[in-house]
Amino acid sequence: MAIFSSSTRDIPCSLAVPRHVAIIMDGNGRWAKKRFMPRVAGHRRGVETVRDIVRNCLERGVRYLTLFAFSSENWRRPEEEVSLLMQLFVRALQQEVDKLHRNGVCLRVVGDLSRFDPYLQSLIRDSEQKTAGNDRLTLTVAANYGGRWDILQAANRMSVARPEKQSHWSETDLAPYLAMSYAPEPDLFIRTGGEQRISNFLLWQLAYSELYFTDTLWPEFDAAAFEKAIVSYRQRERRFGRTSEQLGEVRQAPDKEGDA
Ligand code: IPE
Ligand code: IPE
Ligand code: MG
Repeated sequence: MAIFSSSTRDIPCSLAVPRHVAIIMDGNGRWAKKRFMPRVAGHRRGVETVRDIVRNCLERGVRYLTLFAFSSENWRRPEEEVSLLMQLFVRALQQEVDKLHRNGVCLRVVGDLSRFDPYLQSLIRDSEQKTAGNDRLTLTVAANYGGRWDILQAANRMSVARPEKQSHWSETDLAPYLAMSYAPEPDLFIRTGGEQRISNFLLWQLAYSELYFTDTLWPEFDAAAFEKAIVSYRQRERRFGRTSEQLGEVRQAPDKEGDA
């Protein structure tokens, strides 16, 4: 698969459909609380939303969908909730991977997977292997993922692989070592659940993404709510540091050297 360099250098042609959508699926707990249900009921309902949004992305022709499922900070939650979330993850993989495969979805999981139990790790590996040849939609699940972890692991791997460059590394040297080097940077970032923060998600890759925040809780984020986010995205002018007037001239033309 191609390794994408930073989308902040060249202006990608503005498509009506974002090529890459990244989502922080937040608000499951509050959805359950409003209904006097245990938090896990919200997470269960959240899995149904995932199913709907994946289908919607397939219909729209979105090529990359990245979902934040469990952050490196979520281990701080009560043990019982963490354990139930892990069980849900296992069950979702067991139940959904065949269908994803039939629909041409390539599944990838990014994050520090070493902390997961061996069965979950092997399930992840098998699911990735099974769907590796698909390219209709790449669905990435970020699990035990943190943006700071990602940048650090990339820097560490880069410094081992390219010691001769020492302190002369560039953005393009680092990019191939990031966990999502197989994908272009997100065009559209969505966070449901009302909070307006990044919570250590894709820190490097979100540099020039269009940000969309909605109060809708993840279990209630349906096709109409997704459509609203896409409509908002279409109204944005992505300038990548340039002026509005320049856009017509330089669209897709490569930057001059040194013009980062
Ligand atoms: C997001 O929903 C799911 C995970 C973080 C796993 P939350 O569980 O954070 O829901 P709220 O924010 O408490 O409503
Ligand atoms: C972010 O949600 C992580 C995921 C959705 C997996 P949180 O609900 O954990 O974020 P904070 O702690 O409120 O920032
Ligand atoms: Mg939350």
